[in-house]
Amino acid sequence: MLDRLDHLLEAATGALENSRDLAQLDQWRVKCFGKKSELTEIFTEIGKLPENERPLAGKRANEVKTALEKAYGEKAEELKTRDRDAFLQELVDVTLPGRPIGMGRLHISTQTLRTIYAIFARMGFQVFEAPDVETELLNFELLNMPAGHPARDMWDTFYTTREGVLLRTHTSPGQIRAMRQFCPDPIRVILPGKCYRYEQVSSRSDFMFYQVEGLAVGRRITLADLKGAMIEFGRQMFGADRKVRFRCSYFPFTEPSVEVDIDCILCEGKGCPLCKQTGWLEILGAGMVHPVVLENGGYDPTVFSGYAFGMGPERIAMLRHRIEDIRYFFSNDLRFLSQF
Ligand code: FA5
Repeated sequence: MLDRLDHLLEAATGALENSRDLAQLDQWRVKCFGKKSELTEIFTEIGKLPENERPLAGKRANEVKTALEKAYGEKAEELKTRDRDAFLQELVDVTLPGRPIGMGRLHISTQTLRTIYAIFARMGFQVFEAPDVETELLNFELLNMPAGHPARDMWDTFYTTREGVLLRTHTSPGQIRAMRQFCPDPIRVILPGKCYRYEQVSSRSDFMFYQVEGLAVGRRITLADLKGAMIEFGRQMFGADRKVRFRCSYFPFTEPSVEVDIDCILCEGKGCPLCKQTGWLEILGAGMVHPVVLENGGYDPTVFSGYAFGMGPERIAMLRHRIEDIRYFFSNDLRFLSQF
């Protein structure tokens, strides 16, 4: 019996070596371990052996079975790896260079915001953060727009289900927050953040966009300081030779109010489609902080004065990079985003 087992092991191992593919290997498995296999037969016969011969034969038979199972496992792995490699070789050209890892980058709005921060940081402005979800009181009322004020129509917004709570339409409510925090110290801050408007979405206007507000409050701040800061900003942002123009405007929270324009970066003021033939591009709104607003912030308007401004970084990026439609900014299309 022991000789028979040794012989079986040798023959089966040899046959296993000759298996060329998984189908042949399976045939081998059936032949070796199946119900009608010699091994099964041997196990049956061991049961019929005299009792003193049974343990040794049983032990050897189990050893042979284990050895064959192990050899089978190894062969199966070898053939599977070989098949997989062959398949991959057909599928993949290993001589091709690897795929480059896609590097992320900062969103164009973030890049523009950072450029704005850097320019104002050089002029001594700190960043002050205020919440996106605001009260009607701060967004309108304390900015000199009581209920029913017609200027509220310019900033139609999204109201929450909680009475008097809304998504801010501009970063200006942050002015009140900053003043109340720093009063009676002088202030020089910029307030960046998202704003929301119930807006007819178009190529120039989205329902969500960034703004950067600026606020300076002190004892002898004049319109000349505002002009100086805006001219400096215009030139650092759009080029050292830029002309900067101030036009009269109206905001309820500033008096006087101005719009700030730069000469067209495309036609240099001659007139083109970008500047709608005017030669000028509007970049922000600004003005001297209204006495009522100073008072609401805690500052005595007979002692303190200040200037404020508000700009849209997306509109600034549109000008700098000649982007035609503001809706590209937040539609998450990599063909657009990866250009910057
Ligand atoms: C304001 O929101 C004022 N709070 C700005 C201000 C601050 C004036 C402090 C005086 C003192 P206005 O609605 O014009 O103003 O918006 C300011 C800037 O935000 C615009 O010049 C524009 O760049 C940007 N902006 C406004 N609405 C949208 C919109 N729907 N989509 C994209 N950008 C917008």
